Amino acid sequence: MFGGQAFDAGMTRAWFALVLTLSSVFGSAQTLRQASPWAAGVGLADRIADHPADWPLLTAQFSHVTPENCMKPAALRPTEQAWNFEQADRFVAFANAKDLKVVGHCLVWAKDDRTPAWFYQDGTTPASKEVLLARMKSHIETVVGRYKGRIATWDVVNEALDDGKAELRDSGWLRIAGEEFIGRAFEYAHAADPSAQLIYNDYNNELDGKREKMLALLARLKARNTPIHAVGLQGHYEIDRVPYEQLEKTLVALRAIGMKVVVSELDIDVIPRGRWWADNNRHRAEMAKVNPYVDGCPPEILARQAEQYAQLFRLFRKYDDVIARVSFWNLHDGQSWLNDFPWKRVNHPLLFDRQGKPKPAFDAVMKELTAAVAPSRAIEKAHAETWRRFVDEHGIVRDYVGELPTPEDCRLGKPNAIGWWSPIENGPMFTGMYLNAMVERARRSGTTVDKEKARKLAQGLLKCASVSDVPGFVARGVGSDGKCHYPLSSDDQMHPWFLGLQAYLGSDIPTADERKVLVAKVREVAAALESYGWKVPCDGAFKGDFRGGFKGEHFRDVVRYLHMLHATYEMTGDAVWLERYRKALGEKPEKSAETRQEICALGCPRDLTFIPTIQKGQFWIYVGTQAGLARLAAVETDPVVQAAYRKGLAVNAAFAVPAAETYGRFDNADQGFFGTADWRAANPTWFPQPTQAEAERLAKIVDYKKRGPRKNYEATWMRHPLAAAAVIALSGDATGRPLVLQAIGHYDYAKLNMAEFFFAECAYYALPETK
Ligand code: XIL
Repeated sequence: MFGGQAFDAGMTRAWFALVLTLSSVFGSAQTLRQASPWAAGVGLADRIADHPADWPLLTAQFSHVTPENCMKPAALRPTEQAWNFEQADRFVAFANAKDLKVVGHCLVWAKDDRTPAWFYQDGTTPASKEVLLARMKSHIETVVGRYKGRIATWDVVNEALDDGKAELRDSGWLRIAGEEFIGRAFEYAHAADPSAQLIYNDYNNELDGKREKMLALLARLKARNTPIHAVGLQGHYEIDRVPYEQLEKTLVALRAIGMKVVVSELDIDVIPRGRWWADNNRHRAEMAKVNPYVDGCPPEILARQAEQYAQLFRLFRKYDDVIARVSFWNLHDGQSWLNDFPWKRVNHPLLFDRQGKPKPAFDAVMKELTAAVAPSRAIEKAHAETWRRFVDEHGIVRDYVGELPTPEDCRLGKPNAIGWWSPIENGPMFTGMYLNAMVERARRSGTTVDKEKARKLAQGLLKCASVSDVPGFVARGVGSDGKCHYPLSSDDQMHPWFLGLQAYLGSDIPTADERKVLVAKVREVAAALESYGWKVPCDGAFKGDFRGGFKGEHFRDVVRYLHMLHATYEMTGDAVWLERYRKALGEKPEKSAETRQEICALGCPRDLTFIPTIQKGQFWIYVGTQAGLARLAAVETDPVVQAAYRKGLAVNAAFAVPAAETYGRFDNADQGFFGTADWRAANPTWFPQPTQAEAERLAKIVDYKKRGPRKNYEATWMRHPLAAAAVIALSGDATGRPLVLQAIGHYDYAKLNMAEFFFAECAYYALPETK
């Protein structure tokens, strides 16, 4: 493991340089697209390609663009024969060239005044249902097919819900085809581009009444397996009337049914327009004269608008697991549709003024977007992500989501016999450390759910130690058939295996039967290790060979050895392990002038001679050691020995502070390429590996271009700071607490590719509970 990481140092340095350059150009995350935990979008006047003056603002702030009008049915196809793709083509070409993602808008607009009349006609008679649906199909096939690969998201049906008593809006669509037209539109779009994200879009659908209609419609669509992936809430709001509570109810309801949300057309009108439609349109003549802010928007209105935008974004952030995108409707005030709709007036509804300069609302929104997340909330998110994506069906934590090695791969050693870079590289190492944290989580919450999760991980560890006939062999994880594994394990896998089981068996979670099985396994593994002189056994083609051990003179070896002896004593109750522990404490490991007890007090800086890069990138391999040392310090009864342990813990914590402080270097908005997560592509070279040296040589041949920079980026700016935070938290020293919490709160856990953010939970559950 260490060898592979050392090899990576060059890559890390290159990234370091790149990150420095980028952040000096843009400053720290200061634009919407950088700071948003969702895609930052904007609806754009169709002629954006002819307005270079708008481009810098656009590309700095936004990643997604919706053409305001040119893809609507009326624009694309005013008559059946007259396809008009010119504007739309230019728009898409422009967006693609600027690396902006396009939201196609919209395939069916379920409103008569927005649907060209020919759709509903068949010669001189009204079209039949078959004719209308066939037209819709060919329209969708033509449009979606044309932009396949260049438009990944479509507003498929727009504004189909009724504002009054009816469920669905009266339109030719409904009259001729019935509700079926909605589901069909999604089916046709899905058939035309199976990978496109398909959206149902509407206005006021967050309001009481219309919300229920929408939920009922979604339920009916879902019952028919309709391919619908998100709901669009247009978000055309008015100042002083933003419906926060109803909006929140809607977000809760959509979260509950697992539906993603996009806020698709956000603005806050400062010249409220609601009355335009009130009382049978009676006020229109009067309202058409209202135009109060021709010479600019008064500062007090701008301040109120800013405050209301802030409250809105505070709410959005609370639901950032549901919200996939927030798009404003138009780039700046001068381009807002609300200057014309529903009557002409000088409006100021957006974040940027007519010169494209940020308004108070922009600063208010940025403040909300960059405010630190409450650590407890960040932890819940990290926790959910870990269980959603990384804990496998056996209860073993995977490195990342990727193709599993087959029995054949494991037998041959592909990508290499150590399993480096495969998704099952670090099962016991991650699972054991994580279980240690999960037992504490379960203790705090007392819930069955958390206890079951801990049980699952314990079963995962048991599994790793049950797939080989070599006594004491602990597999790194299991491949596609649920038992094949790489032949080489390691000390880094073995020690956390003890750590996790010790935490689990020390809790009240295991049943008596479970306890019996686990304790028997611990006895078996410990006895085997003892018989090997605490070296870690291999399996398969490497049977009889060992990889790493615990009797060495390094701080890491010493702590882990002592801890495993004592943990085995605690788990089995067999006194011989306590004797061995006591004896080991006073011994000097080979090549060492100090006893183990003395070495414990020196902390990980003692290991710099053999791992010079601890502070640059290797704290992740010290988290387990620190956790073991903390356990020892907690149970040791001899005050002198305990003092040595405490010294070591404190030295490590101080040593880890600078690394933990680098968490801010991780840019959540960085869309860095993870590669295909395809180790076959990233490790195209293979040769048979009769020796460990050959296996290591092969493991170091990686095509970094194919693998992509993300793994290194995350290892450097996520894994390392969070592991350092865990080292600090595990030390038990309260002064590190604020830093640990800041680091935990920094990451957007939904966007990470590598499992090692479980270190955030290791850190969090190591901090003492506050009352
Ligand atoms: C608006 C455009 O902004 C205007 O330019 C056009 O005249 C009318 O349509 N809901 C939608 C958008 O789904 O397509 C509408 O856009 C605004 C309301």
